[in-house]
Amino acid sequence: MKQSYKQALKIIAVLLLVLACGGALVVVSGLIPIRASSGHWAITSWFLNFTKDRAVATQSSGITVPELDDAALVAQGAGHYEIGCRQCHGAPETGRSALVFGMTPKPPDLAEIVPHKGPAELYYVIKHGIKMTAMPAWPNLKREDEIWSVVAFLQKYPELSLAEYEQLVWGEHNKQSGQSIASAEGENLQVPHTVIEVCAGCHGLDGQGRGLGAFPRLAGQNVAYLEESLKAYRGGMRHSGTMQIVAGPLQDDEIQEVSRFYARLQPADPVERTEPGRKSADISPEEWNAAVERGAKIAAEGIPDQGVGACADCHPTTRQSFENSYPTLIGQAPDSLMRQLELFQQRKRGGTKTANLMHAVVDGLKPEQIQAVSFYYAQLSAQKSRKN
Ligand code: HEC
Ligand code: HEC
Ligand code: HEC
Repeated sequence: MKQSYKQALKIIAVLLLVLACGGALVVVSGLIPIRASSGHWAITSWFLNFTKDRAVATQSSGITVPELDDAALVAQGAGHYEIGCRQCHGAPETGRSALVFGMTPKPPDLAEIVPHKGPAELYYVIKHGIKMTAMPAWPNLKREDEIWSVVAFLQKYPELSLAEYEQLVWGEHNKQSGQSIASAEGENLQVPHTVIEVCAGCHGLDGQGRGLGAFPRLAGQNVAYLEESLKAYRGGMRHSGTMQIVAGPLQDDEIQEVSRFYARLQPADPVERTEPGRKSADISPEEWNAAVERGAKIAAEGIPDQGVGACADCHPTTRQSFENSYPTLIGQAPDSLMRQLELFQQRKRGGTKTANLMHAVVDGLKPEQIQAVSFYYAQLSAQKSRKN
């Protein structure tokens, strides 16, 4: 009995060895089809899809989904979709490019996929990408908040017409070349080609961030800060999946041109508490005023017991020359300011060579102090005090 058991084991071992050698020979012979042109056999396709669906379902099961029904988040995700997903997944009505039909597997039309996937599953796929396919991982894994903006946008995507899609991505902007706009000094500025084609969709031709709180306002921002920030995105020192894609291909002279353009525009209007689409719009006038008052004190004096320096030492509360190299915060959207401060605290923002100056400052700030100082800077007026 024992003898025949051993005999059987031996035979199985030999068979496995022969199979392994056979398999290796097939691989070495170069006969396995790797052609994308011939697609997969139905069984291979089924097996790969089944494996992928199971992996995504299991590995995304612990993810907590944040509030996604937020106009600013949807607009931010739409902007990213246009520059980072559309080339493969297409847009409403226009469909996908002929180029992607040559891929195996093909990028699906997401309007058909989204209704069958939960937000956590979408998040997982967008964050990590899919191995051995063209589906890329998010360009910067530190910025999970940005990935949620694309998930928020995808929730709306299946219902969108082309016109609604274009409106979300570009707002009122039309991409006609040869446009001009008045500078803060009233001169006529020719709008750079790059701004018309790329930046205006998100930041606006006038640099006001389309008034959503999703995109930083660039109008009247200090020129050296704009230039250095774009180079920091390009080099991956400042973390943002969206801006790293935008800045990657920019040449130094284009960076200089767009920075000079935006710096010379009329600075942002102060932010009102009641502007629609902002989280701060839900706050009562009394709460807003009290927060602004607390914020003014933090900006002027810092919070010495918590090791927080006075913000105004580096971020003046009246408009100075736009030649300063630290960023101006005056009139910036409160949601934008809060997001950047939280990112500094979590060490997820990165930035230019001077960004570490902020690390020493933010660590001691509590959430309500971040809110207070952000509201304070948002409601300051740049126009009244500008003295270039
Ligand atoms: C270079 C081409 C390419 C780009 C860019 C791209 N994808 Fe994909 N994507 C693919 C391919 C190919 C697949 C199919 C993978 C498969 O079937 O295994 C895919 C699949 C997907 C899926 C379905 C996954 C599933 O579970 O079946 C989602 C959702 C998705 N992509 C979202 C996005 C989003 C959002 C972006 C932009 C942030 C994006 N993709 C950018 C090529 C791309
Ligand atoms: C798809 C939308 C999108 C496009 C297009 C885009 N941006 Fe941005 N931009 C953003 C977002 C979102 C942020 C905030 C990123 C972050 O959190 O770091 C940002 C941040 C920036 C910042 C940093 C601002 C600050 O206050 O620190 C600069 C500078 C900038 N963008 C310049 C540009 C320029 C110049 C272009 C055109 C070449 C451009 N962006 C195109 C979405 C976009
Ligand atoms: C010692 C100088 C210094 C102090 C003090 C300081 N900051 Fe900053 N701050 C900077 C620098 C430098 C940057 C730009 C970092 C970069 O280039 O990436 C910055 C960036 C920021 C940004 C991001 C702006 C943007 O558009 O992305 C915010 C928001 C900010 N600071 C808020 C504050 C607040 C609030 C305080 C006070 C609690 C403060 N800072 C105190 C130097 C300082």
